[in-house]
Amino acid sequence: MFFEASTRTRLSFETAMKRLGGNCIGFTGSDGSSIIKGETIADTSKMFESYSDAILIRHPLEGVAKFISDIVDVPVINAGDGTGQHPTQTLLDLYTIKEEFGKIKNLNIALIGDLKYGRTVHSLSYALGIFGAKMHFISPNELKMPDEILHDLKKKKISYHETNNLKEVIDDLDIIYITRIQKERFPDLEEYEKIKDSYLIDRNLIENKNLIVMHPLPRTDEINHDIDNTKYNKYFKQAFNGVPVRMAILKNLIKR
Ligand code: NCD
Repeated sequence: MFFEASTRTRLSFETAMKRLGGNCIGFTGSDGSSIIKGETIADTSKMFESYSDAILIRHPLEGVAKFISDIVDVPVINAGDGTGQHPTQTLLDLYTIKEEFGKIKNLNIALIGDLKYGRTVHSLSYALGIFGAKMHFISPNELKMPDEILHDLKKKKISYHETNNLKEVIDDLDIIYITRIQKERFPDLEEYEKIKDSYLIDRNLIENKNLIVMHPLPRTDEINHDIDNTKYNKYFKQAFNGVPVRMAILKNLIKR
C-alpha cells in the first residue's frame, strides 16, 4: 500500500517477492482504491490481510505502519512512515557498509543533510549506534536530528557529534551518508529555498580522501554527477543491494 511516491523501495520489494516465487498486488497513490470513497486505512488493511501474506506500507503519517500492524495478523513492513522511520532502508545500508568494510564498529560516518525530516537517517542512527559506529550528524541548524531521537540515543548510551560544518570532520571520515533536503515536508517553502543548497559533495571535495559516498536516493543537487563513475560512488550499490536484502526480509517474515 503505497500512499507516497517510491521507485527503489517499491520496485526492489516487488522484484524480491517475484524472485522468491511470490507475487504482488497493491496500489500507488490512493486514487485507484476505495480510500478515495472514504474507506478507512484500517478497513483497507483488513482487505489486504485477506488477500496477502504480508503488507508493505508507505504513508505520509508517522506511526501508520505500527497502527496497521496492531489490527492485522499478517506481518506489516514499514516502507517509510512520513518523517518517522525507514527500517528496511537501514538494513540495506548496513549490508552495503558491511560489504565495503567487513565491519561497522568504529567506522567514522557522517550523516549529512536533512536530519530533521529524513526518515532514513532516523532509522540508520539507531542501528549504527547499536553496532558501535562513530556518528557525526551534520546539518543546517534548521534541520538538526530531532530531540526525540537524540534522547533515545542517549538513553541507549550511544554517543554522537553534531556540527554544521562538514570540513571540520571530513579528514576522519570513512563514510559520507548524504540525504536529500525533503522539500515536500517543509511547512514553509521559503525556508526550503534558503537551505536547499547547504551541502554539495563533488569530486573536488573528496578527491584523495579514503572514504565512500552513500545516499538512499533519490538525489537532487547534493551529489555532483562527477562522482558517479568513481570508486567513491556506493549509492547505486545500495539500491542494487535493496533486492537481496528485501528477499531476506520477506523470506524471514513470511513463514510458509
Ligand atoms: C528515501 C525515502 O523515501 O525516505 N528514499 C528511499 O526509500 N530510498 C529518501 C528520500 O525520499 O529522500
